[in-house]
Amino acid sequence: MRRLMVAGNWKMNGTRSSVAELLKGLKSQEFSATVDVAVFPTFLHVSEAVEALREVGVAVGAQNVATQSGPGALTGEVAASQLKDAGCSLVLIGHSERRQILGEAEGVLVAKFKAAQEAGLVPVLCVGETLEDREAERTFDVVGAQLDSVMDALGVEVFSQAVIAYEPVWAIGTGLTATPEQAQEVHHAIRARLAARNAEVAQGVRLLYGGSVKAANAADLFRMPDIDGGLIGGAALNADEFGAICRAAGS
Ligand code: PGA
Repeated sequence: MRRLMVAGNWKMNGTRSSVAELLKGLKSQEFSATVDVAVFPTFLHVSEAVEALREVGVAVGAQNVATQSGPGALTGEVAASQLKDAGCSLVLIGHSERRQILGEAEGVLVAKFKAAQEAGLVPVLCVGETLEDREAERTFDVVGAQLDSVMDALGVEVFSQAVIAYEPVWAIGTGLTATPEQAQEVHHAIRARLAARNAEVAQGVRLLYGGSVKAANAADLFRMPDIDGGLIGGAALNADEFGAICRAAGS
């Protein structure tokens, strides 16, 4: 049985006071013991989050990481080993905003994925198609190619220590959620893609869905057989809403 995971991606949001407020709200939530909960603040707020959430068992991850795992001369970057030292256990790799807006290429993502694992962090690899891809019926090709870049370079076995988040780009921050059936179809295809190389790894890997998940639609998504939780953007900035999504995963 795969344990469900619900993770909040705070993106480039938060001030010292709003983060303090959010952390206070998260500490007052009832989280189910059967669900792994995590948040991804900006680098600036990682330490506060680690400190505040330790006692409630919520893990903290970073939204990005350098391509080299240890410290060195790489101005403006943060090493995976530094994130680990700061108390992070996870890191997002290849969020569509980084792929599309910041132009992160597959080679860079592979290097970041590898660096994360070298330092003992669990990478959460984000994959997903654009609306144009979907309309041209290229969804499986695009998502498959994103998975293949990592598997070809590092081997399918790396996914025994990683999480995959399927986030259709057209559903991110748009209020347009994939239907549970649409999401399940892609999740199933992702698992099959991994299974073609290693069935055991494919069975064990957690596949999160992301894209306009809220308390109102979470339970229906999480009920699908290949959906093992969610990666939540906008709704993760509200502690009660995020708490409700986590409880939907636990029910
Ligand atoms: P959203 O973002 O929930 O605001 O759509 C999800 C994400 O980008 O991870």
